[in-house]
Amino acid sequence: MNTIKTIGVFTSGGDSPGMNAAVRAVVRSALHYDLKVYGIRLGYQGMINGDFVEMDGISVSNIVQRGGTILKSARSADFMTPEGRKKAAENIKSQGIDALVGIGGDGTFQGATKFYEEQGIPVIGVPGTIDNDLSGTDETIGYDTAMNTALEAMDKIRDTADAHDRLFLVEVMGRHAGFIALETGIAGGAELILLPETLTQIQDVKDSLREVFQNQRRSSLVVVAEGDETGGAMKLADDLKDEFGKYEMRVCILGHIQRGGAPTARDRVLASRLGASAVQALLDGHASVMVGIINNEIKITPMRNVWSKKKSINYELLELAKILS
Ligand code: F6P
Repeated sequence: MNTIKTIGVFTSGGDSPGMNAAVRAVVRSALHYDLKVYGIRLGYQGMINGDFVEMDGISVSNIVQRGGTILKSARSADFMTPEGRKKAAENIKSQGIDALVGIGGDGTFQGATKFYEEQGIPVIGVPGTIDNDLSGTDETIGYDTAMNTALEAMDKIRDTADAHDRLFLVEVMGRHAGFIALETGIAGGAELILLPETLTQIQDVKDSLREVFQNQRRSSLVVVAEGDETGGAMKLADDLKDEFGKYEMRVCILGHIQRGGAPTARDRVLASRLGASAVQALLDGHASVMVGIINNEIKITPMRNVWSKKKSINYELLELAKILS
């Protein structure tokens, strides 16, 4: 028999476009099943501070199209301590909350795993990060929007690069993961894509660029994931300047622009499906899992597996990028 009557929903870690659509789906699905719902502001920190607000259907009106998160987000240092987690659990229990839905990335889910194992608070994870670096789902909420934002910028950079016959190094987000770099690099026709998942030798970069310019190519675009071992686009530019300075090299770091903006249709639908599935997972008796979508079907993965198994990039895409460049 289902004993869950009241749930809490929170967003945590780096925000991603579509988190609001996921909050809306969690709240409205929960209300549909006659559950009471609290929004928890500022993620785990809000649990420690006791920052709970009851949500009704109207409270999530007009947010499906908005980037950011109405519940705010944080990376809580307090929650990383056993005392912080104890305090959070006490507040949750005294508020009458039986279970949680957490929307976030790997840090959020590491915290959730510990919270369940240590304090017995059930948490269902909804994958929300632009990095797309979570096992158990083909895509994370926000990834598609971030890619399209980066791609739009790259197309514009390409125009000016071409006008001046310049070499551009464009840095995209991804501290530990190259999903954004790989797919935007292919979609933007990059001459070279540098990822944290592959070992980048500066000599290979130089050889590839030499080949590009020998082939009469005058402007050129290199996509660099921020976590690439070269140390990012600025450092790379410094390492290349002696030989390639003549191509009037320029660096563009896209940064947090990639995290904001209205979610794409794809992200809104993904967020809506996953938010509703998270509530369903709680009603089905799950306690420490993440809901994801694999081959267009909802899949449930034990929370621990989501962050302990590294999601692989598609190496076929990397080969394709080399052939097409
Ligand atoms: O995890 C998402 C992400 O946007 C990474 O791609 C990036 O490295 C990081 O967050 C930036 O975090 P912050 O906003 O805390 O600087």
